[in-house]
Amino acid sequence: MVRQLRPRTIYIGTMGVKEYRATISKHVRPDDVVLEVGCEWGTTTDLIAQVAPDVIGTDISPECIERAREMRPHLRFEAIDAFDMPALLGLGKSFSKIYVDLSGFSGYASLLDLLSLLNMYTYTLQPEAIVVKSRSLKTFAHRCIPWRGEPEAEDAR
Ligand SMILES: C[S@@+](CC[C@H](N)C(=O)[O-])C[C@H]1O[C@@H](n2cnc3c(N)ncnc32)[C@H](O)[C@@H]1O
Repeated sequence: MVRQLRPRTIYIGTMGVKEYRATISKHVRPDDVVLEVGCEWGTTTDLIAQVAPDVIGTDISPECIERAREMRPHLRFEAIDAFDMPALLGLGKSFSKIYVDLSGFSGYASLLDLLSLLNMYTYTLQPEAIVVKSRSLKTFAHRCIPWRGEPEAEDAR
């Protein structure tokens, strides 16, 4: 029997930048390799770097990346679209944690896009955890209960 790959990635939904950054002390360890997607000028990337020095910040905006590099020359920043998997894989890192903060991705209208992005990261980059700043994801997660069912139902899958 061929067993399907089941990554153990967990998603942590946060609302607002305060919550997003508050996760660092709980979820980031010094030996983590971290990617921040949507880093803007690198404020959160810098906070992550104070716990886990092996961090890269990425953003779709070359202007933001230029400013991040000027403000924080000790950190690595790259201009990459969050959906450009070849470019993210090309960074050549095995990320254990991924932080995602994309403008326009907090509302319900973008939830499907966000879920597909999370799924893509889960199966290609296989991090332990993805921390997301998204009001809709956090609200959605609150409403979800995974049905455990009967033991036979689990076996039948
Ligand atoms: C709210 S800002 C990020 C703030 C930053 N994470 C922090 O904590 O300081 C959102 C960023 O998402 C970036 N962004 C939007 N769409 C993107 C995409 N498809 N790929 C990468 N970055 C994107 C924007 O350029 C913007 O800089």
